[in-house]
Order: sequence, then C-alpha cells, then structure tokens
Amino acid sequence: MAGASRIVGVLVLALAAVSLSVAYAADKTVYQYIIFGDSVTDTGNVFKDGGVPDPAIYFKGRFSNGPNWVDYINETLSSKHKVQIFNYATGGGVACRANLNSTRYPYSRDAVNQTGNFLADLAKGKLPTTKDTRRISLSWFAANDVIVGLTRALTSGADPATAGAQIVADLATCLAQHVATLAGAGVAEVALIPQSPVQVSPLVLDYLRPLVSQLVDAVDGALVKAVEAVNAQLGAAPAGSAASRAHVYLLGDSKWIGRIAPAVRPAFKYISENPCFVNPVSSMVLTPGIKVCENPNDYAFYDEIHPSTTFHKWFALHGLLPRLQLFRLAPRDV
Ligand SMILES: *[C@@H]1O[C@H](CO)[C@@H](O)[C@H](O)[C@H]1NC(C)=O
Ligand SMILES: *[C@@H]1O[C@H](CO)[C@@H](O)[C@H](O)[C@H]1NC(C)=O
Ligand SMILES: *[C@@H]1O[C@H](CO)[C@@H](O)[C@H](O)[C@H]1NC(C)=O
Repeated sequence: MAGASRIVGVLVLALAAVSLSVAYAADKTVYQYIIFGDSVTDTGNVFKDGGVPDPAIYFKGRFSNGPNWVDYINETLSSKHKVQIFNYATGGGVACRANLNSTRYPYSRDAVNQTGNFLADLAKGKLPTTKDTRRISLSWFAANDVIVGLTRALTSGADPATAGAQIVADLATCLAQHVATLAGAGVAEVALIPQSPVQVSPLVLDYLRPLVSQLVDAVDGALVKAVEAVNAQLGAAPAGSAASRAHVYLLGDSKWIGRIAPAVRPAFKYISENPCFVNPVSSMVLTPGIKVCENPNDYAFYDEIHPSTTFHKWFALHGLLPRLQLFRLAPRDV
C-alpha cells in the first residue's frame, strides 16, 4: 500500500514536471520594460545627444565603469525570455521640472518630458504590441530632486527643515503624476523604485548626512501615501478604462538599497568615504585629464555620485530582481 502510493506520488511528480516544462515551452510572453529615470538608469540617451559622459572614462554612455542595472536585468531575463527594453532615462533626469536646469544640462529631461517621449513613440507604433506583450514600466528618479532642492535651499539660506518638507511634498506629487499618467495611458503594471539613500554617497558632506538621511526617510513615507492615493484613484476609475486595469507597485523604500553596498562580496574597500575619482565639474560636462583609480570595483562609487558596475550588478540581481519577481513583474525562473 505504501509502495503503491509512493509509485502514484512519483507519477504525480513526473506529470507535474512534464506540465511545468510544457508551460515554460508555451510561454510566449514578451516582457516589455519601459524605463524612466536619471543617470543611474541612462544607457546612452544623453551620450547620443550630447557626447557625455566622457567615453574615455565611462562605459558606453553609462554613468559607470561598466554595464548598469538596466543592462544586468536585461541580460539575465533575456537568457530565458523575450525581453524588450525602451529606456527614456537621461543623465540629470528629475521627477519635477523645477529641478531641471536646461542651461547647465541641455540633455537632461524631466519625468513629464520622458513620459511624453514614450507616449509619442507609442502613438507612432514604435513599441510592438501583441497579445503576448506585457508592458511594464520601471521608474527610478534616484537622487537629483533631493540634491538639487537641498543645494538650492542651502545656498539661498532657506531654513533646511521648511525647504526639506517642500522638497518631499513636491517630489511625491511629481512622481504620483508620472505614475498616474502611465497608468492612464494603458501601462497596466507601473513600478516605482524608491528613493536611493543619497546620504551615503561621497558627494554629501559628512555634516549634512543626518539631514539628507531624514529627508530620504520622509520621501519614503510620502511615496507610500502618494502611491496609495494613486491606486485608490485607479480602483475608482470607470470599469473598462485603462486606468481601472492598472496598478502601481512601490518597490519598498530606500532601506534595502542602502543594504546593498555593505552586502557585496568580495566586499568593497570604500563605500561613502571616497569614490574611485571625482569630477571637477560634473559627469555631464567634458573635463579632459581626469585620472581614474586603478581598481574601480573596490569602490561602491565610481565617481562622487554614481555607483560602480559591481554595485549595479548586485543592485539588479540581488535587490531589484527578487522584488520584481515578488510582484510577478519579472519571470521567476531566472
Ligand atoms: C538585451 O539583451 C539582449 C541579449 O543579451 C541583447 O541582444 C539586447 O541588445 C539587449 N537590449 C538592450 C536594450 O540593451
Ligand atoms: C542654471 O545653470 C546656469 C549655468 O551653469 C547657472 O548660471 C544658473 O544659475 C542655473 N540656474 C538655476 C536656477 O540654478
Ligand atoms: C522633450 O524635450 C525635448 C528638448 O526640449 C523636446 O525636443 C521634446 O519634444 C520634448 N518631448 C516632449 C514629449 O515634450
């Protein structure tokens, strides 16, 4: 009896294995990722328009010494699945237009412009759409709004607490508009990557780290409320409308991003203390003669604000991917 049930058990397992492999073989899903953000996410848009960052020290239009997180996610998913990437992120990208200085950085685009460029491409039929297409947006405006807003406040002598509250409120409003627009335009799965823990970057002076850290915590809290409000609106949208089918996924808060650099193995020799090199002006301004350190992957930060490719790889594969998989925004068999 025990023997028979064991045989039946084995048979059931064997059948399950067969049907699983059939399911995989039949998976025609095309994962189409529409990507928005700043230099951490740009895979060559600013380089195509403006020739920066300097190809002598940066990798193929990435603001790093090698591939960035978009490249790593694409590489991993593409090994088993059909993946399409449409990346609208630009170096200097910001969520709020008020934080854009187009005189200084003519090739940077804010979230409204990036979203508009996507919608224009969609209208022109540049994004393949079939019954197997899953269109998923990923937005990561990692740091610029906080940095620009805080720099403006500190140089104008504004009260940091008051200015900080305004920065947080504005950022939450701009991101809520961005994700609501995508949802309304027929992107059913809209993912928002949280604020990065800017306080750990070498750019931030030690005495300012506690203030920046508070600001980042406040952004984390504000985004939870903002995304909740957008999802409530989507839930109340007329049945059958694009919005009623959409959902916004906030992928946690800044804390998990902060835990990546200390977890990387082999361990970084330097995290916040110093980067591999510092740009005298900005990575968005060509400055010949910069000397890069010998072993960039000893550093969490390649320059004063941008992570090294080793960080990008860990962020992509050990941080972001499992979170996308948790919400079924990426296939689980990679
Ligand atoms: C994604 O990865 C695949 C496979 O490595 C590659 O052929 C494709 O060009 C990549 N797409 C982008 C946008 O980098
Ligand atoms: C924008 O950048 C220009 C050139 O660097 C600078 O002169 C100007 O003050 C900046 N504007 C703002 C609003 O920061
Ligand atoms: C984004 O900005 C660029 C530069 O100003 C402009 O050429 C482009 O038309 C803008 N896109 C949208 C959708 O407004």
